Amino acid sequence: MMLHIPAVLNKEQLKTITGLLVDAPFVDGKFSAGQVAQRVKNNRELDQTSQQAKQLDQLVISALSGNKIFRSATLPLRVSQPFFARYSKGMSYGSHIDDPVMGGEAGRYRSDISLTIFLNDPENYEGGELSIQSTFGVNEIKLPAGDVILYPSSSLHQVNTVTSGERMVAVLWIQSLVRDAASREILFNLDLAREKMQYSNPEASETRCVDYAYTNLVRMWSEV
Ligand code: NI
Repeated sequence: MMLHIPAVLNKEQLKTITGLLVDAPFVDGKFSAGQVAQRVKNNRELDQTSQQAKQLDQLVISALSGNKIFRSATLPLRVSQPFFARYSKGMSYGSHIDDPVMGGEAGRYRSDISLTIFLNDPENYEGGELSIQSTFGVNEIKLPAGDVILYPSSSLHQVNTVTSGERMVAVLWIQSLVRDAASREILFNLDLAREKMQYSNPEASETRCVDYAYTNLVRMWSEV
């Protein structure tokens, strides 16, 4: 499932993040890439040991954890540290799939879902679309600042060359409680219906039935 979640970061949070990134040290993005991806990766990434990284990580993680749609769509078990990346003119990330298992000594996790948060508006740069291949064709994604796109880590994707300006994003990976993407999509849809019913008709027997089904399917399909 590919999912666009609007306004995960508000204007104020974006201002703080971009403010912190201005003076933060960036390194060659190849350092964090797997062997195959290294050959096609051409960007710059925030030095994760930098002073700013801790505050930035906290801001992004708390915004995500506070977002209901994010939680419902991903059912997170582990969420990676964010990687903050900049692509200036001429930079790109060629076609690749993400590493299946990531994380170092701090804890390894399986990448089920990839997530990009756009940190600046599309008017700030030309090119730089996130291009994701799915069974329905290629999707070119370029979203307003603060918006998020979720997509399966198993899908082939690339970042097109930036031809002017600068593209700023944060990327993360999620290991979900529910490994199977199709099951996760069913749960997400059921949860949307459940939420609406709990709001509009909390005492109805059908609301209880849907809640029962959702809760017990999560129990049935979760791996911890
Ligand atoms: Ni990738």
